[in-house]
Amino acid sequence: MKLIMSLLLIFSFNLFAQDVENGKKLYAKCTSCHGNDGMGKKSQKAPMLAGQHDWYLESQINAIKNKKRVSGSASKMYPFVKALTDNEIKDLSAYIATLPVVLN
Ligand code: HEC
Repeated sequence: MKLIMSLLLIFSFNLFAQDVENGKKLYAKCTSCHGNDGMGKKSQKAPMLAGQHDWYLESQINAIKNKKRVSGSASKMYPFVKALTDNEIKDLSAYIATLPVVLN
């Protein structure tokens, strides 16, 4: 019984866990503006994302995707996020949340 319970637990965990590796791959689309390190680029008016919470990243990516957030230069980002699925956005957010803040 314990074994079955553990297997169930592992299974359900995998079902809901975010795929950080997939998020890392998807992040390749974002580096031109936000940087490999997620520290943002002044020249692109792209803010730093490193050190941010996954739930906030997810909400803002969705807001830009759904054109609810049209502040500043958000429209520049729209083409890069418009086709992302909910799961891809969750994976991306999980990956970005692992990036440390590195101030020069
Ligand atoms: C063409 C440049 C560009 C690309 C590519 C881009 N972004 Fe952005 N992103 C921006 C800009 C500019 C803003 C700030 C929008 C504003 O002025 O409100 C932004 C804002 C954000 C925010 C909100 C940050 C905050 O603190 O509120 C998140 C999260 C984000 N981008 C994630 C991503 C992800 C993930 C990708 C890749 C799928 C991506 N961006 C690709 C330019 C870009």
